[in-house]
Amino acid sequence: MTDKNDTPVKGQLQWGGRFAQGPAAVMQAINASIGFDAKLWAQDIAGSKAHAAMLAKQGILTPEDESAIQAGLDAIKADIEAGQFPFSEALEDIHTNIEVRLGERIGEAARRLHTARSRNDQVATDFKLFVRQAIDDTQAQLKALMQALSARAAEYAHTVMPGFTHLQTAQPVTFGHHLLAYVEMLARDQGRLADARARLNECPLGAAALAGTSFPIDRFATAEALGFARPTANSLDSVSDRDFALEFLSALSIMAMHLSRLAEEIIIWCSAPYKLISLSDAFTTGSSIMPQKRNPDAAELTKAKTGRIYGALTGLLTVMKGLPMAYAKDMQEDKEPVFDALSAISLSLAATTGMVTDLKADEPRMAALAGSGFSTATDLADWLVRVLKMPFRDAHHVTGRIVRLAEAQGIDISELSLAEMQSVEPRITDEIFGVLTIQASVASRTSYGGTAPANVAQQAALWQERLA
Ligand code: ARG
Repeated sequence: MTDKNDTPVKGQLQWGGRFAQGPAAVMQAINASIGFDAKLWAQDIAGSKAHAAMLAKQGILTPEDESAIQAGLDAIKADIEAGQFPFSEALEDIHTNIEVRLGERIGEAARRLHTARSRNDQVATDFKLFVRQAIDDTQAQLKALMQALSARAAEYAHTVMPGFTHLQTAQPVTFGHHLLAYVEMLARDQGRLADARARLNECPLGAAALAGTSFPIDRFATAEALGFARPTANSLDSVSDRDFALEFLSALSIMAMHLSRLAEEIIIWCSAPYKLISLSDAFTTGSSIMPQKRNPDAAELTKAKTGRIYGALTGLLTVMKGLPMAYAKDMQEDKEPVFDALSAISLSLAATTGMVTDLKADEPRMAALAGSGFSTATDLADWLVRVLKMPFRDAHHVTGRIVRLAEAQGIDISELSLAEMQSVEPRITDEIFGVLTIQASVASRTSYGGTAPANVAQQAALWQERLA
């Protein structure tokens, strides 16, 4: 259909009846999407097969034409899978490439396939099918990461580490508890994807260019054949809606933010001043000049890929914001951001799962740091409230004075003598030393959702069961 320079021959353009000349080279270059939408070939063929079957069932296509179309599309599928399909820029996009090729294979019947549809409803359908599959694939990867986190949380349910606020030592927590915090975040990500999928799952096919069609089509049949819950209800909205892509990108953006936070924590935990965890050779790189280095590059790149994903969301929101209904060619710019964000999140999820499985906690180091920075000061204050019935605000003040005493001597509050503590509050007894250890501190946090190792072990088991 094209000459050997890949220039369209006027009479073979889809709209050739109306046009006297082919496009300028730059027109073809800016207009063509085949360079990226070739990725939608499987969805395009599935959509065409469902459309042809419906047309035949409705008596709009003859059974002979329908079988020729089905066989031709199957042959094209096989050609593409075998890497033997002649994609052509002159034929603009995946829809025209496949349709023209079908004509070359089966002749006139191919020219009847485009009855009662337009590339506008066709592309919306193809892209929805693609995003739906992307949601399902992302869900599977998300689940694998949640399983890895829950397994490590069960293993480290009793491992005490420093808990931070403002990145300052706050109170001891368990490493398992910290890991399960990410499982909670990712569970919300699962929910957002599931919500997006449910809203996406209406079929635009049959909306035609924008107004519907005069042919007696059965949109419920094509919707069902393609696994949609129902057809879309308004033809204008059908061809102009890209909310499904935006919702997917929004969900990925929040997810990427979560992965980025975990990645930053992994980077901090691995750094020499912290050394709370280590990653093996499999998840680090070396330095060409500093032989001692072991760099957490996968975590850094996971963090950085967040930028691409936010960029994809911002880019597509910007494409859509000024579009009058219905379809406009602007919308062709919807695909690349989604493809790019999908490959970024997929790599990030896989790398994060790898790191979570690979990491090894330095438990003595975690315990040592958990006990530094007067991390059990709240436990002392709580004891004053519980045993001496002191109002919490007063207990906070007394504890502050005891912390100052320890700080002046460069020791922890647990290393002060009873007499020193009693110089601040005479009613303190030696029972206090029982609450000042990090183990006693975490064990006491039994409130629902708290960090007590027994709670954490139970939560980890619950998640493992839910994710099994
Ligand atoms: N390649 C186009 C896209 O990606 C397909 C729809 C073209 N429709 C049209 N009326 N030119 O959006």
